Amino acid sequence: MIPQSFIQDLLNRVDIVDVVERYVPLKRAGANFVACCPFHGEKTPSFTVSQTKQFYHCFGCGAHGTAIGFMIEYAGVGFIDAVKDLAQGAGMQMPEFKPEHPRGKTEEGDDLYAIMLKAAQYYRNQLKSAPRAIEYLKKRGLSGEIAREFGIGYAPDGWQNLQAEFPDYNAKALVAAGLVIQGDEGKRYDRFRDRVMFPIVDQRGNVIGFGGRVLDRGEPKYLNSPETPLFEKGRELYGLYQGRRAIREAGRVIVVEGYMDVVALAQAGIGYAVATLGTATTPTHVQKLLRQVDEVVFCFDGDDAGRRAAWRALENSLDQLADGKQLSFLFLPQGEDPDTYVRKLGKDAFEKLLGDAKPLSQFLIDELKSHVDLATGEGRAALLKEAKPLVMRISARFLGRIIRQNLAQVAGVSVQDLEREYGIKETRSVQAAPARSSATPVRGPARQVIELLMMRPELHTLANRRELDAARGVASIRPDEIALLDALLKIFGQSVGTRIGEYFRDTEFEHAVREIEACVLKRPEVEFEETALEEQFISSWRKLNAAIESDARESQLGILQQKLTQKQSLSPGEQAQYLALLQPQKSTSAP
Ligand code: UTP
Ligand code: MN
Repeated sequence: MIPQSFIQDLLNRVDIVDVVERYVPLKRAGANFVACCPFHGEKTPSFTVSQTKQFYHCFGCGAHGTAIGFMIEYAGVGFIDAVKDLAQGAGMQMPEFKPEHPRGKTEEGDDLYAIMLKAAQYYRNQLKSAPRAIEYLKKRGLSGEIAREFGIGYAPDGWQNLQAEFPDYNAKALVAAGLVIQGDEGKRYDRFRDRVMFPIVDQRGNVIGFGGRVLDRGEPKYLNSPETPLFEKGRELYGLYQGRRAIREAGRVIVVEGYMDVVALAQAGIGYAVATLGTATTPTHVQKLLRQVDEVVFCFDGDDAGRRAAWRALENSLDQLADGKQLSFLFLPQGEDPDTYVRKLGKDAFEKLLGDAKPLSQFLIDELKSHVDLATGEGRAALLKEAKPLVMRISARFLGRIIRQNLAQVAGVSVQDLEREYGIKETRSVQAAPARSSATPVRGPARQVIELLMMRPELHTLANRRELDAARGVASIRPDEIALLDALLKIFGQSVGTRIGEYFRDTEFEHAVREIEACVLKRPEVEFEETALEEQFISSWRKLNAAIESDARESQLGILQQKLTQKQSLSPGEQAQYLALLQPQKSTSAP
């Protein structure tokens, strides 16, 4: 990895305006620079570059990033090359750094990434002189352009074709990379023979595995790379790298089952689909996707196998649910998969179908209901019993509550009873609160403080990290916001010059930072006045503390009220406290 200190130095040395201007002419507009967005077609400029904040943002398509991000997206280079290029321009010496992926090296020092890349290039070249394979892909409706985009290739028939590309065919690394199989009698042969090859790439664009499909009949239909030091099926999603821009623009991602589904959807103009690799959807998959978008649609066949797979996906998503995120399930008509459906009926029909996908909350209850007889008390009790371990895993506050409410209703009990039986502490404040969508964020005090810090990192001196500890677990404050706020205070405490866009790359905060930076960019310049910002910061921080105090008060009040409803007597001290807690509170927040 390149040390973060170097990245930060670099970002402080280069000016994003110069970097972008190398490729896109910019016009000044107030404090910022604008242009027609190079990442999507438009006639009026919504691509904005902030010189003070050193990031770009397109209000049209959501493209967003630092100078490094711009090079990656615009010039299509990898992270390291983007850094190298900018460093060279700034006259900076690249530091010594451990190779990007030490895990990609074998004991002999062979670089598995380089081997996989070379193999992918070989297969791609072979496709050109394989009319049968080309014919097959054409028959499946793919254009040359899409085949290139996904790097589709062909592994010719024959046992040791890779020898041509790798003269040392006996190298252990070829086996380690999963390209060559070591037979029982010491004979070696290519794993993939006479198959259409789909390279699997990681999020940085490195080839880490292959899926190979037979052209005609044959078993298995798809042969995949084995698990190797580079390739872990449960972590990777086919098409995530190729679809990154479309996913961001759409603000959602579809998870399908097959390689061909991803490719066929892309061919039809739906670039925001990814596929699991012949495995169930894992929590890691879901986490990876939710880091990038707020909306995930799982798409399955309408048969029993599809329903079972969907249920597995649901089970593996529960821990990742968060308010503001939306997961849903789409079941295709019998006998169809996304590939056949979109080829028959086209993009619009498929996207319309997506709109009818069943929200996770509904799928959960519908499935549970289908297992029991709701007409009987026994059936309803079984429902509650079966639901408990699932419901208990949902930590999303509002969604969790709403699901419990629905479940209680179906079972014919009160949500209070259900929560008591499940051992969930009743939280009064959540009852009437509407679920919030991230499209229209309600700006709580934590969020306000974060925005202000992003505008003016120097304000961190006015904050107290220790006070934040008390905010954890407070009902009205989002834990993710507290975590981000804490991280920001920590890094700005070390250096107010930290460019967080790169600091948080590939972390859980990446998506949030991008979204908040975009909000900050929209705020009028007058708000950037020094004293105004300070006052706002102090006032927001006070509100944060007030929320903490009021939560503490509420839970104390709850304890005392519970005692009263259970007809326990209060001590004189408790009585006084109870009366005091019932008094209307003086507002602690500034006007
Ligand atoms: P499907 O059997 O649904 O195939 O496998 P498909 O995607 O519709 O393939 P086409 O349209 O006939 O080409 C879905 C996924 O399951 C994995 C692959 O990842 C495949 O994309 N799979 C399937 C295997 O790994 N091996 C197999 O033999 C079959
Ligand atoms: Mn198919």
